[in-house]
Amino acid sequence: MSWSLTAEQETIQLRARALANEVIAPRAAEVDKTEAYPWENVAALQEAGFTGMTVPTDLGGPGHSFLDAVLVVEEMAKVCGVTGRIAVEANMGAISAVLAYGTEAQRKLAAELVLSGDKPAICITEPDAGSAASEMTTKAQRRGTDYVINGKKHWITGGGVSKLHLIFARVFDEEGNQEGIGGFLAIRDETPGLRFGRREPTMGLRGIPEMEVLFEDMVVPQDMVVLPPSGFGRGFGDLMNAYNAQRVGAGTVGLGIATGAYELALDFVKEREQFGRPVAEFQGLQWMLADMSVKLEAARSLTYRAACSRGPNNSPFPDPAMAAQAKIFTAEASISVVNDALQMFGAAGYSRRNPLERMYRDVRMFTIGGGTAQILRTVVASRILDMKLPQRRDGFTKIAERSQP
Ligand code: FAD
Ligand code: COA
Repeated sequence: MSWSLTAEQETIQLRARALANEVIAPRAAEVDKTEAYPWENVAALQEAGFTGMTVPTDLGGPGHSFLDAVLVVEEMAKVCGVTGRIAVEANMGAISAVLAYGTEAQRKLAAELVLSGDKPAICITEPDAGSAASEMTTKAQRRGTDYVINGKKHWITGGGVSKLHLIFARVFDEEGNQEGIGGFLAIRDETPGLRFGRREPTMGLRGIPEMEVLFEDMVVPQDMVVLPPSGFGRGFGDLMNAYNAQRVGAGTVGLGIATGAYELALDFVKEREQFGRPVAEFQGLQWMLADMSVKLEAARSLTYRAACSRGPNNSPFPDPAMAAQAKIFTAEASISVVNDALQMFGAAGYSRRNPLERMYRDVRMFTIGGGTAQILRTVVASRILDMKLPQRRDGFTKIAERSQP
């Protein structure tokens, strides 16, 4: 798997960079401070054609690739992590699942929403089912031609500001038999029983709400059910397969933030003087910069490669193992790069006047959200060993509990 940018992709990148520098960057500190969703940035993305990029032409979209979207996400995240995340979810999050698996009416609905600037929310995580996502208990009970959904999700990015919500739920037939896991579409202010609970006070990425989302006898008609292609029985796998696109996007936001921090540090070390010379002349910092550039180039290669990859069986989504490799490395490298960039600024890096302080808080998230670095290592190990690696205890006992011989 290789990648290289076409002339068209270089143009997209330059357009995105100009928008990021001229429009998004000046607002980034304010977005962080006020914790207000940056609707103006959403409008700017939409006007530039940077939402709904992956919507195919038959649905009125431009039919861009995941890599095209990644280039935009990276440029936004260099100056504003929150806007980078919005660009992910308006191009390669829940929208990918609906475009691939939805009925024509669902695809049309979702396409229209993202093309007009919506950032659909993906609702997987529950208080008792985080990494163990397949243990979700949100229940979708069939009732006639509808499903009645009850349960609770939390840490839902954009819950309450997004219009479209894709909800993963455990499906039961009318007799109460469990059928598997399906995707259900709900629309803010329209779907009865869709409620929003408390907002999580987060460490970083503060301009986008992380919400509890509650389903209280929420009625979803059959035509808003996203039926996984292999049926509900294997629905979790199908829906997570679509989620690989978002994992690549999440890694890209980390990459963008770290690249932005590195570029700031590069300028600073040439300006700041100590001992009568620019601090860039000290080998201690030169080697740090060299290591930062190596990490960023490696992360970029893994990320672009994953964006261009396709999983087994003609999957329309990035390969699960490549997406996981890219996200693990990029998230960890990005945290390390931002940390080193902050160090180069000395005390100034620790001041809230400096964007490094915000970037440091923002970038910390990417080894957690979207599948933790530990869980993703299990995904990679499963591929390289060609083994299923169930994580449930199944027969483990504490040594002290074993019967004595
Ligand atoms: P837990 O699963 O409780 O994990 C606790 C610790 O145990 C972690 O270190 C984990 O790596 C480790 N661990 C757990 N199981 C294993 C194992 N088998 N092997 C090794 N280590 C293990 N979710 C959504 O559905 N939609 C969203 O939009 C969304 N946005 C998010 C945004 C942010 C900013 C954050 C922080 C989270 C978001 N999440 C979202 C939730 C996110 O996906 C979960 O936080 C993540 O899957 C981990 O679940 P958890 O927090 O419950 O941690
Ligand atoms: N891409 C494609 N298929 C996937 C997948 C992915 N990212 N993740 C799981 N699947 C498939 C598995 O291959 C398996 O298919 P199979 O039955 O044909 O073998 C099926 O889904 C069930 O997966 P399994 O590994 O048996 O489930 P599990 O309960 O042991 O959990 C985890 C596996 C931990 C990898 C998964 O639950 C996970 O990704 N957790 C993190 C959740 C997350 O990222 N949340 C982000 C919310 S924003």
